[in-house]
Amino acid sequence: MSFTLNVNGTDFEVDVEPETPLLWVIRDSVGLTGTKYGCGIAKCGACTVHVDGQPVKSCNVTAASVAGREVTTIEGLSPDNSHPVQVAWKEHTVPQCGYCQSGQIMSAAALLARTPQPSDQEIDAAMADNLCRCGTYLAIRKAIHSASQA
Ligand code: FES
Ligand code: FES
Repeated sequence: MSFTLNVNGTDFEVDVEPETPLLWVIRDSVGLTGTKYGCGIAKCGACTVHVDGQPVKSCNVTAASVAGREVTTIEGLSPDNSHPVQVAWKEHTVPQCGYCQSGQIMSAAALLARTPQPSDQEIDAAMADNLCRCGTYLAIRKAIHSASQA
């Protein structure tokens, strides 16, 4: 199946099986590898991207289903890593191994877009589906509060 996928403001013509998950099209067809595979069953959040500004687990939607919509990956969040969440992540040294972090950042950015001053409870609820085996949860919460002040 051939269709046009808009990723980070650029249109890409892709030709994949209709059921191919968005995650694999982003990584293998478009060539952006910042979005990670963790579980493949919508349980870890490592593959989180934005579709029309909303956080979506890209392992759990087909690429064909988001044709014509705006997909944003970690590479497209800002041109120079200057998004307030990225700045706060560095300020608080959030990443450990780093594997989960692009998904964490994308979920955090979506949270702040809809709730600019989130409470701890709102942060925990919004980030509940983003797992981190390194246990960076407290640093993530601090960084989100920090980004909310930017
Ligand atoms: S890889 Fe998509 S939620 Fe885990
Ligand atoms: S930083 Fe290692 S899994 Fe989250």
